[in-house]
Formats: sequence, structure tokens, C-alpha cells
Amino acid sequence: MADSVENVRVLRQSRGLVGTVNLPADKSIAHRAALFAAISTGTSHIVGYPGSEDPQSTLSCLRQLGIQINSDEVGLSIVGGGLNGFIAPERALDCGNSGTTMRLLSGMLVGQAFSSELIGDASLSSRPMGRILDPLRLMGAHIEAAGGRAPLRIDQASALRGVEYQLPVASAQVKSCVLLAGLWADGETTVIEETPTRDHTERMLGLSSVTIGSKRYISVQGGRTLSAQMWSIPCDFSAAAFFLVAGSIVPNSALHLPRVGLNPTRTGLIDVLKAMGAHISIQNERIVAGEPIGDLFVRSSQLTGIEIGGEIIANIIDEIPILTVAAAMAGGKTIIRDAEELRFKETDRISAMSKGLTTLGAKIEEQKDGMIITGGKKLHGGTVESFSDHRIAMSMGIAGLVSSGEVRIEGANAASVSFPTFWDVLSELG
Ligand code: S3P
Repeated sequence: MADSVENVRVLRQSRGLVGTVNLPADKSIAHRAALFAAISTGTSHIVGYPGSEDPQSTLSCLRQLGIQINSDEVGLSIVGGGLNGFIAPERALDCGNSGTTMRLLSGMLVGQAFSSELIGDASLSSRPMGRILDPLRLMGAHIEAAGGRAPLRIDQASALRGVEYQLPVASAQVKSCVLLAGLWADGETTVIEETPTRDHTERMLGLSSVTIGSKRYISVQGGRTLSAQMWSIPCDFSAAAFFLVAGSIVPNSALHLPRVGLNPTRTGLIDVLKAMGAHISIQNERIVAGEPIGDLFVRSSQLTGIEIGGEIIANIIDEIPILTVAAAMAGGKTIIRDAEELRFKETDRISAMSKGLTTLGAKIEEQKDGMIITGGKKLHGGTVESFSDHRIAMSMGIAGLVSSGEVRIEGANAASVSFPTFWDVLSELG
């Protein structure tokens, strides 16, 4: 089904996807487990740390900060040095393509007694960092970034102070960055969020939160010490999303996705797809290392269009690219609004998906904050681009399975950022 020549994949129409899908471990949880282990006291163990590029960027930054990380067949062991266990890095810390690495690590570096610099690839260097510079500076941090973009230059601050900060954008990365900086600040730091975003940081650090009216207040005490833990990373719901859609839109499909993370701040796509008519069921729900997980089953169905906007957008932000593929195959119109944040991801995902799906014959009207997709048009073959974005590459791959002609995806290797085996898994499922 998928041929590879260098960085290009060619996809052909599938007659049905059947089987069990081997998904990668959750990227968001993995970054946090490694970062939190590094500042804990004692040796933490992480079972199932992903080999994908983004989580590996976090490990290489931590190694440069003097953290000892060993791996064996079970997973990683990370020797934490407490809040003051880092050593000054000898060169810039390269976060690669990973926004989570850059934004969370910045929060941990502003309180250190040394200077540091964080750099990233072309995509990460074009993404907005003002959203972390503002709250970190309010806390007293010395952090500079020309034009609000990486490279970020951090110098030692005399002291950090706890703040109460209301998030101007719904962003778990900004929330986590501020809460982490709060560990090195005097007194208490509170982040206020009006729109719920993924809550892995709060869960994993055991932070207290209260909801008053429409606002959630999450607090951390400065100087709080963390103890080493054993983390077991579930499979990534955002990776499962490609197969929830593929299993729904490719006729004659039946897929089993075991051990998927089902944190309710991440799983809005299940509700959206079900509302569109998808056949998805969950079995064997359980809690592992503080996170809900379960086994997902999906089979083919006829989908119908839907209107989405408002609070759910933050919950499904990483899944919207693949949702647009489902929408293109659904009967009727799908309207996505309030999703302008998509323009600030690894690429402008509204523009990238509009271009790719239009090339294959879909009818899409791009809006400033979303898209209007008139579904039900037959997709045909064509050449599309990933724009070096893993989620665009994989979404276009799934579109290729329901297109009548060959779909050639340029820049397909971008999938390795979160799902290195994606193309092999697709081929195996047939
Ligand atoms: C992430 C949060 C989200 C998401 C990203 C991972 C995280 O970004 O898009 O892929 O791990 O905290 P924002 O919080 O900036 O929306």
C-alpha cells in the first residue's frame, strides 16, 4: 500500500484495514516523565519511553544538563538531582521540532544559577514564544528571544517570584511552563485557565486545583521537592486518532487499538467522531500511573458532517488535521471554528490540510479560524506535501487510503517526529 523512495510515500486505495495496531507511547506524558524525573530526588524508571524524535530531543537536552539516563530492554532509568541538580550546558540545547521540550524546559531553566540557550529546527524557530516570555518575565526571569521566536537566551535571575497568571491562550505548554518555573519561585504560583487543556502536568506532579465558576486555578508551591517515581507511558491517543479515522472511513475495516491513553482532556475526538456516526467502543478501562487507559475498537461506518467550535477545540487540537480527512469523506458539511491556534503548530495546519485535501479533489473553504468542508466528494490521486509536519504527513497518508488514484506524499519522513513506524504499520494492516 505504501512505497517509500527517500522522503516520499505513495499510497493507494485500501480494500479494508483489519488487525491490531501497535501504537507509539504518548509523547506529552513521556516528555513530562523525563523532565520531572530529572528534577526529582532519586532514580526514576520510565517504562515504554518512545523512540520518536520529539521525546528523544527532551532526553538529549537533559543529558546536556548533566542528567544521567540509562536505557535497557524495559525502559529508561533517570537519575534525578533534585531542583538544583543541573549543570551548565556547554552548548545550546537543541529542542529539534519539539515545542513541548522548548516551552517546558524554559520554565525549568529560568530559575537556574547559570545561563542557557535553547534552539530548534526551522519550524520551531518560527513558532510564537512570546506566550512563555510574558509570564516568565512577570516572575522575574531573564529570558530573551528576538521577535518572540527561538533561539531563547536565558540568564540567571536574582530570584523568581510566584505569580497568579491567567492564560491568554488555551495552551497546556504555557500552563506547564509557568507551573514548572513556580517550583523555583518564592511562594505560590497559580495558573488560571478558562478553557481546559491537557492536564498531564497537574496529574503527574499531584498539584492542587480548584474550579470557581468557569475558571480553573492550578497552584504549585515554590521549593517543593519531587520524589523519584516509576512511570508507565500509555499509547498515544493522538497517534490512535489516525486509526480511529482510518478504521471509520476505509470500508471493510475493523481495528483494535490496545492500551491507549484516555485522559478526558485529550479524547474529544471520540465524541466528535461518534456524533458523526462512527462505531467506536472502549473496553478494559483502567488507571495506570495516574492516567486512564483502555482498549479501543473501531469499524467502518458512514459519517455525516458536524459543526464544532468553542471549548472542545483545545481538547482535539492535535487531532483536527485527521478530523478534516474524516470530514472530507462524510456526507454534508463540516464546520470547524475557533481553531486559529492550528496556524501556530509545526506548520499552519489550516492552510496545509486545505491545500492537501483540495489537491485530492475535496471541497474546502479556508477560514481565518477554521475550515468549511463539504464532504462526500470522491477523492482522487495527486501529489501533496507534509510541510515537514508529522501530523500533516500522516493525515495525508490516511487520505491516500480512500483516494481512487495514487497519492504521493512528499516529506513523508516527518512522521518520525511522533510515530516512526507509521508507514510500516499502515502497510501491515493492508
Ligand atoms: C502539548 C500541548 C499542545 C499540543 C502539543 C503537545 C503538550 O500544545 O498541541 O502537541 O504536551 O503540552 P499547546 O499547549 O501549545 O496547545
